[in-house]
Amino acid sequence: MTIYRATVLDTPDDPFTGGRLRAEADAGLLVHDGMIVGRGQFAAVKAQHLGEEVVDLTDGVVLPGFVDTHVHFPQVRVIGGLGMSLLDWLEQCALPEEVRLADVTYATGVAEEFVRSLAAAGTTSALVFGSHFAPAVGVLFEAAARLGLRVTCGLVTSDGILREELLTTPDRAYAEGLALADRWHGTGRARYAVTPRFSLSCTDPMLAACGALHSDVEGSFFTSHLNENKQEISTVATLFGLRNYLETYDRHGLVGPRSVFAHNVYPTDRELRVMADRGATVAHCPTSNAALGNGLFPFRRHRAFGVHVALGTDVGAGNGFSLLKEGMQAYFSQQLPGRKRYPLAPRHLLYLATTAGARALDLNVGHLGVGMPFDAQWIRPAPGSTLDVVLRNARDDTDALAKLFALGTPGDVHKVWVEGVPVLGPTLLSAG
Ligand code: GUN
Ligand code: ZN
Repeated sequence: MTIYRATVLDTPDDPFTGGRLRAEADAGLLVHDGMIVGRGQFAAVKAQHLGEEVVDLTDGVVLPGFVDTHVHFPQVRVIGGLGMSLLDWLEQCALPEEVRLADVTYATGVAEEFVRSLAAAGTTSALVFGSHFAPAVGVLFEAAARLGLRVTCGLVTSDGILREELLTTPDRAYAEGLALADRWHGTGRARYAVTPRFSLSCTDPMLAACGALHSDVEGSFFTSHLNENKQEISTVATLFGLRNYLETYDRHGLVGPRSVFAHNVYPTDRELRVMADRGATVAHCPTSNAALGNGLFPFRRHRAFGVHVALGTDVGAGNGFSLLKEGMQAYFSQQLPGRKRYPLAPRHLLYLATTAGARALDLNVGHLGVGMPFDAQWIRPAPGSTLDVVLRNARDDTDALAKLFALGTPGDVHKVWVEGVPVLGPTLLSAG
């Protein structure tokens, strides 16, 4: 067994319904076979387990590994394309790059960069938007398995308005999706997610095929985009003859507790009611919404209807892999004056980046209590760096957490574990 000695911050209970930040200075986490089997003040844990190895993480802070509920694997190399709205950005930045993943050697390089970028940002679990090419999705699953990350992913499908090279048919989408799910769903830490790109690029028969696959692959997830941009929404309304974007998915059984919808910047009340009733999740992607000028996320309305919300980076429209940055941008957006704002506290940001995502993905992770796997990140700023100075001068735990969100970057994430095994750290980095 190993005792990890650290200042630990986590949010086991939902702060949107009264849960508090749990902050423990000089805690001892007793880990056996990757699972946390004891927790308390370090001195007490040590006294009960005198012979056990101690790993000293007292410099800095330990947080749960982050859970990213919306991130595109083929878009790592196009992060940072600014000055475009959604449909122009897709056309000019994302889709030309996504076509390149038809080459499995190219896709293998991207997959490696992608999983390393997740780990480097302290992300240990993710719902990953895959590629339009089945072999590329396969290499992503392989790269995630090699590193040890908890990845839920699937083949992205489209048969409507999109670049021709990325189109498929409903039958082929079903067959290739089923083959990938047979190979990967439930293998190690991998799970399958049925993933039509968005209703704008899909016909109704394609969404029907997605519904069939989702119901045929037991325990599969469903993910897509929803209500992101006004032009997108009006095109979907015209294509489907429906004013309710969610209905394009719902009529095929695709709205349930294992469904995650990215963005939802412009929902109707009816859509929010249906999502709340079904226990679906919205992946809020604040840097992407800002970068593409999508609009301000109506957090207050999601809360009012009881819709579950987690965080997504939406790389590559989002500006990086760090859920610290997403949390901060979520906070900034809700600080703008107006009736609709929903002020967020540091405990909300940590919950959105961890436990909320775990709930969306039905994973027993997200906090560092007894019975959880040791999925954790050690944030250890360089001595004398601004974050180091500010953390040492924090007023209290909540203030320290605010500082982590304000100033923390992947450069401050020193080591990351999944189930007690390092997936990022000095030795792994120097190994290549
Ligand atoms: N809608 C359809 N595809 C995409 C994508 O790749 N990124 C974002 N942000 N929205 C989308
Ligand atoms: Zn997206």
